Amino acid sequence: MMLRLNGVRKYFGRGTINEVLALDGVTLDIEKGEFVCVIGSNGAGKSTLMNSIAGTFFPDEGSVVLQDNAITNWPEHKRAKFIGRVFQDPLSGTSANMTIEENMAIAMLRGKRRGLSRGVKPAHRELFQNRLKKLELGLENRLHDRVGLLSGGQRQALTMLMATLVRPDILLLDEHTAALDPKTAELILSLTRELVEELSLTTLMITHNMHHALAFGSRVIMMHRGRVIFDVRGEKVKSLTVDTLLESFHSVGIAEFSDRMLLV
Ligand SMILES: Nc1ncnc2c1ncn2[C@@H]1O[C@H](COP(=O)(O)OP(=O)(O)OP(=O)(O)O)[C@@H](O)[C@H]1O
Ligand SMILES: [Mg+2]
Repeated sequence: MMLRLNGVRKYFGRGTINEVLALDGVTLDIEKGEFVCVIGSNGAGKSTLMNSIAGTFFPDEGSVVLQDNAITNWPEHKRAKFIGRVFQDPLSGTSANMTIEENMAIAMLRGKRRGLSRGVKPAHRELFQNRLKKLELGLENRLHDRVGLLSGGQRQALTMLMATLVRPDILLLDEHTAALDPKTAELILSLTRELVEELSLTTLMITHNMHHALAFGSRVIMMHRGRVIFDVRGEKVKSLTVDTLLESFHSVGIAEFSDRMLLV
């Protein structure tokens, strides 16, 4: 068992007229090496689920266990050592005013105390170049370029490398291709697959694209109103199609899908 959420409940604006129960007692076990795709309509609680794993906030009830550590009350920075994250916005994972190698040097420090050694070690530089070559975007020759000069797709590719430069116990991807054009999205997805396989990562990927969920997930879960209402893994995933998925949701009375989820 890599990750266990037990009865995680999270309110926003509790006690106000805007109260939202974003997670309604989520219990979820994720095994080492699983690739879990999370689908669900807008506001279903997908990002909140991920935030509760990353420690962006503490749950109101329930517990989170990563490996053998009860991390429920650990602050975000303490968990960062074990968690790699990539968000939707390709600009959010990197610092525009720093060079590629400076950004990567910071990623190398994940979970360590910062500021002890400034500058980029030659051994690290070689590692960075080797990792960048893998992207086949020519970035290995641009170590001293400011990241602000890169395209969105190049930046997201770099963010993926940075999130996995120090191998995380779990990789969290929150619609990390949703802001990219289709071709670039495919590139980032195949990079995702390569990195996950190469490093045998345990992965949680939120996507609005059901085709991607079925193609990438060794397990597919659907969230609805703060709960996990559908959870399929292994061979069963392979037998699913987008149509059968939709049918099964309709049959349990869920017809509220965002247009984005169907426009794939
Ligand atoms: N920081 C916050 N403050 C107040 N409400 C929040 C906050 N974060 C999320 N919510 C609310 O919690 C609910 C779940 O939101 P969440 O972002 O987890 O949904 P999601 O499934 O990721 O949706 P989307 O597909 O739109 O990204 C929504 O009603 C949302 O408005
Ligand atoms: Mg979200």
